[in-house]
Amino acid sequence: MKKIPVILDGDPGHDDAIAWVLANSRQELVILAVTTVGGNQTLAKTTYNAGRVMSLIGLDVPRAAGRAKPLLCDLIVAPGVHGVTGLDGPGLPEPARDIVEEEAVELMARLLETSDEPIVLVPTGPLTNIASLLLLRPDLKEKIKHIYMMGGGITKGNWTAAAEFNILVDPEAADIVFRSGLPITMAGLDVTEKALVHPEDIERIRSVGNEIARIVAGWLEFFYQFHQPLGYEGAPVHDAVAIVAIVRPDLLTMCEMYVEVELIGEYTRGATVGDIYGYLGRKPNVTCIMDIDREAFIDLLVESVASYGEVTLG
Ligand code: BDR
Ligand code: CA
Repeated sequence: MKKIPVILDGDPGHDDAIAWVLANSRQELVILAVTTVGGNQTLAKTTYNAGRVMSLIGLDVPRAAGRAKPLLCDLIVAPGVHGVTGLDGPGLPEPARDIVEEEAVELMARLLETSDEPIVLVPTGPLTNIASLLLLRPDLKEKIKHIYMMGGGITKGNWTAAAEFNILVDPEAADIVFRSGLPITMAGLDVTEKALVHPEDIERIRSVGNEIARIVAGWLEFFYQFHQPLGYEGAPVHDAVAIVAIVRPDLLTMCEMYVEVELIGEYTRGATVGDIYGYLGRKPNVTCIMDIDREAFIDLLVESVASYGEVTLG
C-alpha cells in the first residue's frame, strides 16, 4: 500500500494526543515528524508533552519545537481545559529522545524540500508554524499536498461566542493559511462537537485492557470532567477528526465553502466566517466537515487503541 506522508503539528493537549494515537495506528499513514506550537499550554510544555506521547505510542521520528508565540498577538493558554501541564491526567513515560536542533519550521521546510512527493500537514493547534512556513518558504507550497486542520467553526465558537480556540489564539496565522490557495480540510466545531466520546464509550475503550487504552480512557475522563458541567454528553475529541478526514472520510459529511477569518471584530475576532449559501460567489477555499458518524468514530478509536496490543511504558 502506498502510504501518505504526514507531519503532525500540534499543542498536546488531550485531543491532540488522541489524534496522534489514532494517526500512529493507521497503516495508510507514515508520520515523518512531530512539531509543536504554543497553544493549549506554553511551547515548553506542549513540546514536552509531545515527547511523552511519542514515547507512549512508540513513535520514533524527529520532534521539533516551533513558535512559542502567535504572529502578532499574545499567547492565550488553556489550563482550565487541559490542566497546568497541558496534558493532566494519567502518568506518562518520559520522552525517549531529545528534540532535534532544527526549529519546527526549518524541519518542515527541509522535509518538504527533500521529499520526492508532496506531504500532508495536520495542524491541530494554532496555525502559527504553518503560516510561518508559508511566509518564509512560499516556494515549498507545491510540496504541500493538503492541510487537514482542526480549528474554527462555521456555526459556533468555543472560546468566545464567535471564535474557536485554535483560530482565536492566532487569527493572523489562520488568515494566511486560509488565503494560501492550498487544499484545506477544516475539522471545525461544527463536526468536532459531535465527535463526542460518551462515558460508556470511555469504559469501552478502557476495557480494551492494554496500557494505551488505560491512558486514552484517562485522558478522555479528564477532558470530560471539564466539558460535563457545560452540558456536553461526552468528551469532544476535536483534533482526532482531522485524522479521520484522511483515513476514513467516508465517516464524514463535508461541504466546500469560501471561508474568511475575522481579524478585527470587537466581538468576533478569530471567527471563521463561512459563506454557507455562496452569496459572495467566491471560489470555495476550504472543505468544511459538518457531521460525523459518531458510532463508527467510537469503533475507530477502539480499533486504534486495540491495535497497540500490550505495550510496556518506556
Ligand atoms: C481545540 O482547542 C484545543 O483546546 C484542543 O486541543 C483543540 O485543538 C478545540 O477548540
Ligand atoms: Ca489541539
